[in-house]
This record gives sequence, C-alpha cells and structure tokens, in this order.
Amino acid sequence: MKTVLTGIKPTGKPHFGNYVGVIKPTLKLASDSSDNARTLVFIANYHALNQERDPMKIRDNTYGIAATFLAFGLNPDEVIFYRQSEVPEIFELATILSNLVPKGLMNRSHAYKSAVDRNRQLCEGKDVAENGMDLDAGINMGLYNYPVLMAADILLFQSTTVPVGKDQTQHIEVARDIAGMFNHVYGETLTIPESFIVEDTAEVLGLDGRKMSKSYGNTIPVFEDREVVEKLIMKIKTDSRRPEECKDPEESTVFQLYKEFAEPNKIDEMRHAFQNGEMGHGDSKKLLIEAVNDVLEEPRHNYQELISNRKLIDGFLLSGAENARSIACQTMLNVREYIGV
Ligand code: TRP
Repeated sequence: MKTVLTGIKPTGKPHFGNYVGVIKPTLKLASDSSDNARTLVFIANYHALNQERDPMKIRDNTYGIAATFLAFGLNPDEVIFYRQSEVPEIFELATILSNLVPKGLMNRSHAYKSAVDRNRQLCEGKDVAENGMDLDAGINMGLYNYPVLMAADILLFQSTTVPVGKDQTQHIEVARDIAGMFNHVYGETLTIPESFIVEDTAEVLGLDGRKMSKSYGNTIPVFEDREVVEKLIMKIKTDSRRPEECKDPEESTVFQLYKEFAEPNKIDEMRHAFQNGEMGHGDSKKLLIEAVNDVLEEPRHNYQELISNRKLIDGFLLSGAENARSIACQTMLNVREYIGV
C-alpha cells in the first residue's frame, strides 16, 4: 500500500517556504491518492522540544500549523491528521530503534554537526580542552537523537513516500538505514521509505535572497495580515537594474515566488517581460502581491475561523490520532513479537 507521510515542526508561524516546500506538495499528494493509498500528516510537537521550551509557544504554534493545513483544504476525512504526542507508539518504537543505531551515525547527522561546528567557531584559536570548552556545549540529547525519533515517525506507519524539503533528505536516508538494520537483525518488518522532493521548488528564497528559513529571519508568514504580507513582498531584495534592462527571470526571487502563485499564462508573461526589458522590480512585486492575494483569500478566511475554534481543531486531531494508532498498533504487534518482549 502506498503510504505518504510527512511531519511539520510547530516552531513558528508557517511561511511561504513551508507553503511551497511542504504544505502545497503534501496537499497535492493527498488529493491524488487513490483507493490503494493513504496519507498521514502530523504535527511534530515532540521534535520541537529540543529548541522550544515555552509551553505556550508549543501549543499556539501547534494550533497554528493545524489551522494552516486545514485552511488550505486538508480534508481530515481523507488524510490522517494528528499530533505526534497523541501516538505513544512512536516513542516506544524510537526507544527500540535506538538500540540498533550506531552512535557514529548520529555523530554524522547534519543538525548535530552544524551545532558542533558553531561551538568550534566559538572556540577558534583556543585550546578547547585547556579552556574547559566543550564542543557539545548546549546540545541536548533531543537534538542528538532527532533522527531516531524521526525514523520512528516514519517507520511506524510503513510509509513508502515522505515529502520533505531538501534539508531533510539526510534524515530520510537515516530512516532507510535504520529500517534496513531492523529488518536485517529481526526479519523483514519495516518498509523502506523514499523521500519525495519537489525539485525546483524545494528551496524558496527569502527576503534577503538567501534560503527562506526561520533561522535567517527572512521569511514571509502565510497568515500574517494582508498589509504586512504586502509590505514584506515590497521589501524582497532585488538588484539595481532598471526596468528597461533585460533580466534573467530565474535570478529574481520575486519571479520564483510568482511561479508558485500565478496562473501559467501569467507566469509566461512575467518571464518574457523580464527577458525583454519590459518589467521593473517594483511592478513585478505588485503582480506578485495580486497573485498571492488571489491564492490566499479563501485560506485566510478559513484560517481566522479555525484559529478561534481550538475545540474544532482538537476534534480533528484526536480522531486522526485514533486512526493513526490503529495502524501503529499493527506494526508494534509485529515489532514486539520480533524483538521478544
Ligand atoms: N524534521 C522535519 C523538519 O524539521 C519534521 C519531521 C519530523 C518530519 N518527523 C518527520 C518530516 C517525519 C517528515 C517525516 O521539517
């Protein structure tokens, strides 16, 4: 059975990068699914704990993400939609898997390595041992074990397809490795998942032209007030070329975003106008604002209704968790039998 699964961390307001890279492709996959396919989308609230300790933020962001998916049309009757924390089998499987995972594999994980690199830069030029500096300073076990928990998220449901941003491909590789280790030791139990990356849209650029990311503070939030979104779009960094100069549309952050929001014929028009020196950056931004407002009008309205009705969201997420657990329990029956507990 084809099983599409993806998770999203509740660490901040969803932005255009999340919309293009994860929300839109996930909803598209969900709507394509046939009788022999199922889609699971979950809010990875336990994954957020390694960087966020304010309970209110965790809770608010969780509702924010849930409302976002629902506002864009996720149908909870078709998609199994749940909070990670409401499926305890995930954490049981993570504990089991951690006994198979070589520590060295975690040492090589990108998220951990970049945290170590940051510490190394802070220690630059100093004798680390002599100064009592620790390259692991500030790194908690939640961050270190992150790939194991993520593997459990995926493998518990026998997922075949995992839509993720490019930055997550290593995590999927690790999940594949871990599934292989389990199957090798105990017998074929866990499905080996594949990642699914929307190649040309996987990296959306932010206001400053770098990758759009919460950590760079260059994001455009999806459900901020219309005026705020418009102002941010007007701030997108552009080069200094004048309207009548020919430009390569692919170099324009505005055009990149436009491709995600506008109709195909409009996209062609902007492409040609850029190439022929008939489009200034200011005008391209105005067109982008129009296209964005068209796409977001209805979801904005839905979002406002949902976000003020947490009980309704809880209802969807709880029944999703029930469905998720009925799949999870099947896997765990096998897993427990195989490992001998
Ligand atoms: N690590 C993902 C992110 O930071 C979120 C995530 C957690 C996830 N578990 C997952 C994604 C399982 C796909 C499948 O974006």
